Amino acid sequence: MSETFIHLNETHSTNSYLRELIMREREQPEGTVVITDYQTAGRGQKGNSWESERGKNLTFSILLHPSHIPPGKQFILSQLISIAIVKVLKKYDRYFSIKWPNDIYWKEKKIAGILIEVDLTGSFLSNAIIGIGININQKYFKSDAPNPVSLAQITGKEHDLPELLEKILDSITDEYNTYSPDNEEKIKQKYMEFLFRNRGLHPYLSGKEFFNASIERIEPNGQLILKKENGSIHTFAFKEISFVI
Ligand code: BTN
Repeated sequence: MSETFIHLNETHSTNSYLRELIMREREQPEGTVVITDYQTAGRGQKGNSWESERGKNLTFSILLHPSHIPPGKQFILSQLISIAIVKVLKKYDRYFSIKWPNDIYWKEKKIAGILIEVDLTGSFLSNAIIGIGININQKYFKSDAPNPVSLAQITGKEHDLPELLEKILDSITDEYNTYSPDNEEKIKQKYMEFLFRNRGLHPYLSGKEFFNASIERIEPNGQLILKKENGSIHTFAFKEISFVI
């Protein structure tokens, strides 16, 4: 992948910065990385904001050109990126997992979030902006994010940000390069192995309904299939269901 690396002291959001760069200059090489010490308007999924104390954590975005991944299968990107991050974190502790679709958890707490924004040109994925926020050295969280945790809180010591970034980028490159239609099944298996609450009954909330269910499977388009206690099967898109933690 390319070596283009942009380090900003401060920016609104690395995803937005990368998007504006692509708009201005038309194209940027695959592998372009934008990283910042501080985001003034860090964005999360579902329109949420992303809190990250200045200089304490990793907040960055990577540009990919996944034209070899069919648009209907863009969930593969979520799987590859979250597998890559969990593989690195698992070297520090065993209790890391992927909370569907692509939050990274340690036990019942969230350590990292991923925001993927794609451009469709004709019928292929021309750009994917992969935004990643990983809590590394932050000790106190101000926002009302329900259950944040950092690597320093888990390991009891501070970590070198450039060193961790390099490990994460290498791991992402490895996972991304392994993709081919032939090994989708293998990727899916790894994702299921790392999945939070991949076994047993757990509580969920959909609309106003609370219920216990187990994860039956994840569809190639990323939808979550749950099996309720009574055996009935239900399909959920990302915004239609919350895990009760
Ligand atoms: C989430 O869990 O809601 C996704 C959080 C994604 C945060 C990262 S930080 C770097 C990149 N720039 C952003 O504005 N958001 C992503």
